[in-house]
Amino acid sequence: PVAERVDDLLGRMTLDEKIGQMTQAERREVTGGDVTAYALGSLLSGGGSVPSDNTPQGWADMYDGFQTEALATRLRIPMIYGVDAVHGHNNVHGATIFPHNIGLGATRDPQLVRRIGEAVATEVTATGLDWDFAPCLCVARDARWGRTYESFGEDPEIASSMTTIVTGLQGEKLGGPNSVLATAKHYVGDGGTVDGKDQGDARIPEEELRKIHLPPFQAAVKAGVGSVMVSFSSFNGEKLHGHRYLITEVLKGELGFTGFVVSDWNAIDQLDGVRDAFTPAEVSTAINAGIDMVMVPERWREFIAVLRDEVNAGNVPMERIDDANRRILAKKFELGMFEHPMADRAQFDKVGSAAHRELARQAVRQSQVLLKNSGVLPLKPKTGKVFVAGRSADDIGNQSGGWTLTWQGSSGPITDGTTILQGVKEAVEPGGTVTYSADGTGVDKSYDVAIAVIGETPYAEYEGDRPDGVKLDKVDLDTLATLRKAGVPVVVVLVSGRPVDVSAQLPQVQGLVAAWLPGTEGAGVADVLFGAYAPTGKLPMSWPATAAQEPVNTGDEKTPLFPYGFGLTY
Ligand code: IFM
Repeated sequence: PVAERVDDLLGRMTLDEKIGQMTQAERREVTGGDVTAYALGSLLSGGGSVPSDNTPQGWADMYDGFQTEALATRLRIPMIYGVDAVHGHNNVHGATIFPHNIGLGATRDPQLVRRIGEAVATEVTATGLDWDFAPCLCVARDARWGRTYESFGEDPEIASSMTTIVTGLQGEKLGGPNSVLATAKHYVGDGGTVDGKDQGDARIPEEELRKIHLPPFQAAVKAGVGSVMVSFSSFNGEKLHGHRYLITEVLKGELGFTGFVVSDWNAIDQLDGVRDAFTPAEVSTAINAGIDMVMVPERWREFIAVLRDEVNAGNVPMERIDDANRRILAKKFELGMFEHPMADRAQFDKVGSAAHRELARQAVRQSQVLLKNSGVLPLKPKTGKVFVAGRSADDIGNQSGGWTLTWQGSSGPITDGTTILQGVKEAVEPGGTVTYSADGTGVDKSYDVAIAVIGETPYAEYEGDRPDGVKLDKVDLDTLATLRKAGVPVVVVLVSGRPVDVSAQLPQVQGLVAAWLPGTEGAGVADVLFGAYAPTGKLPMSWPATAAQEPVNTGDEKTPLFPYGFGLTY
């Protein structure tokens, strides 16, 4: 039994070994021998931190190298390696990239999402890794927030129902051949901050926190989620990373969470309200609040020294250190890491497999939300003259969004998968013809329809905050104007992580589809445009008529452009 093995191991550990388990360092910040010398319990790849050979084998080689070091420690405790595989194993070249959560929320299909979890877990374990910093269970209440696309939507019920992904990632229980540890994040209220500010302050009554933001975590705990990541944000002025009541009493006590709690990136630095190097007081506050493992990507050596001093000074009780270790070690045992610490090298071909790509294409189809149709859709396959324009028509990086190969999303070419343009060509040719120019140059009256693939370009975290509202860029407005001048029907495919202000453009176009951030399988968008799959997606968020309506869903009288749950079909 795991509890006995944990107790046995814990009884033999020194304070330094225990602190090592509670420390998570960034892979770029450790040099050969560090994992052994400091008995580091965990490593991570931050966004875009990839091995120089960014292939499944390159990852497995890197993983095995670090694991060999961990197994050279006195007690041979394996290290656990975490990544943000938030819409597929979006770190490695050739992986299947699924729609970001906002699109999955539009599907209202928890079983589909569970299967996606299984596929992601398979691709992650194929590269050797054990731990995924997903799912994000934030309930996005204000689309100006830069992380809205990581949310399943504004409704706690959608996010709660999608915790099937936890079972998909971990398996019925931890330790199966393709089981990764899942992370419910970011605890709690990250989607409810004032003005949708990332790392901001949720100034709401506790009753509202419990009603809107807590339920998905409750569902995740019920599903057996193994770890929870704390939010950078504050609750009524108090940083979550120091919030003993919410972490220890509510999450671990009331909700009965038995896994371990991990901090966010350097988040303990901000506990005193200033973003500078952590102080001893910040370290003990975080640990005493109930954080079990601390993501200290660069300054992990200082963290180890400071926590040791804090324990020796009596500022952090030994029982807290032991509790943290019990929680971490239990998951390592349950994952089977002591029995199978090294990468399984038989599965490299699972990364980007045809079966996973087909699943992703199905998810793309189901995530499309048809917002306007003046009779132009569905388009006729294998006939006619179709014009395609827009900077996201032929760009897998744009259609994938943030957290794709790099933290802010890949600007470089990803060649695996299909662009939306390729999907349109597949649908139209032979029989019809497709002409493409990014800015619309060359369009004229001879075309049956013009498809404008426009919207947001990739961003992640606070870089995506748009306090003044989410608007179309001038380049997109210019493309639209060019198409409209030709006098042909215009269908807009909006590639975005959230509702965009299209109130002024709506009367001028004949069709509008919210494609969200579909990922690598852009052809799924064309499947819907050409009627191979009739749209079934429903808005996971109210679509504001103006930015001034944000946050839309406050219960007072507001008339959004499209209400929550809206979605047409053919
Ligand atoms: O998991 C992420 C989190 O969502 C945002 N900050 C960094 C973490 C690790 O990359």
